[in-house]
Amino acid sequence: MDKLLVRGQNKLSGTVMISGAKNAAVAVIPAAIMAEDICVIDNLPYIEDVKCLNITLNKMGVICSYKDKHTLKIDSSNLKNVSVTFDEVRRMRASYYLLGALLARFKRAEVAMPGGCNFGTRPIDLHLKGFRALGAKVEIDGEIVRVYADKLVGANIYMDTVSVGATINIMLAATMAEGTTEIENAAKEPHIVDVANFLNMMGAKIKGAGTDVIRITGVENLHGAEYTIIPDQIEAGTYMIAAAITHGKVIVKNIIPKHMDSLSAKLIEIGVNINEGDDYIEVDSTNSKLKSTSIKTMAYPGFPTDLQPQIAALLSICEGTSMITENIWDKRYQYTDELKRFGAKINVEGRIAIIEGISELSGADVEATDLRAGAAMILAALAARGETTISAVKYIDRGYEEVEHKFSQLGADIKRVSV
Ligand code: UD1
Repeated sequence: MDKLLVRGQNKLSGTVMISGAKNAAVAVIPAAIMAEDICVIDNLPYIEDVKCLNITLNKMGVICSYKDKHTLKIDSSNLKNVSVTFDEVRRMRASYYLLGALLARFKRAEVAMPGGCNFGTRPIDLHLKGFRALGAKVEIDGEIVRVYADKLVGANIYMDTVSVGATINIMLAATMAEGTTEIENAAKEPHIVDVANFLNMMGAKIKGAGTDVIRITGVENLHGAEYTIIPDQIEAGTYMIAAAITHGKVIVKNIIPKHMDSLSAKLIEIGVNINEGDDYIEVDSTNSKLKSTSIKTMAYPGFPTDLQPQIAALLSICEGTSMITENIWDKRYQYTDELKRFGAKINVEGRIAIIEGISELSGADVEATDLRAGAAMILAALAARGETTISAVKYIDRGYEEVEHKFSQLGADIKRVSV
């Protein structure tokens, strides 16, 4: 069990290089097994979720090997096993993409129900509704989901709720269905576009990814491709907030600034200076007087729920009263009890959190209750007077590459200890 020890109040400065997007990686890797061929995926983040997928694929009979830390070669030519019920697959929420990918290629799959972060009910009814619309039968047997079809046939599918996972999963299955599929009220997150771009490089015919309506003309086969994953919007946002909360000045590099618009707008409202370049954003909070604001989480291009805990850490030291409305997950405020250990004044009622800004946080013993909650603990610790111990770092490792190393390079006093 690792812990992070942080001594706070160092102003961060310098440049941080952002890794590839976790949420793109965990969809692109399963998509790669749809070709009876070799794919090479580059700019992968070296994080636990990707390592876990690598092990899962190898256990399925895919020959999956790291060319270097960020490049995975995936040879699915001998893949035969469509039953994915071993332990690793239960550890990741995104393992549900194996359902869509295997259904596309083999017209059948069985996958153990996904795990991942526990911040509320995480149904997959929309994924299954989409598979059914394409002609698949769906059976749920305890924790195992089984899908099969003689053939998949394109359909018009309206998504009742905007869902990232369901949009991608249906897109995967429809890629190899007969005829045309239209996904209406599709999610528009950058990693949906990334997965569509990758599939198109493999020979798929997908149009409209990144808009409300995605049109997919099915193809019989896909071929191998080489692909570079987009930068991680949430990792970038975490470091942007880190610069703000420590009154530092940091260049967050290797990013797509457009993906950060909703956060940049809020940081400007709070009083932070933002300068955008082609592939970087400079966040300057050295002379900022931080002011309260209100945040509503929404599907892209709205403010991402995955930056909600981190911005809460910042708002806890912004002068005045801030309000957060969480519109995506029903239990995403578990971390606020941990934030209160730093002295933060937060009141949660249902989907709303009211935060009374205080002038300074104090170091504390806290736990990372999930991945992004863990990131919020690091941010609070960086701003706090004194020392903080963060336990359950395994959650942070699921989605942040070399987190203590990147923060140390910016001047943070942070180290990992094994207990
Ligand atoms: C993805 C992200 C996660 C992020 C979330 C919202 C990955 C691997 N994870 O999760 O980090 O927090 O998007 O941006 O990309 N819903 C249903 N039925 C379904 C599916 C979803 O009702 O079948 C609901 C969920 O309960 C939730 C909302 O739709 O309220 C959005 O969920 P969704 O976009 O599907 O999240 P994930 O894809 O699981």
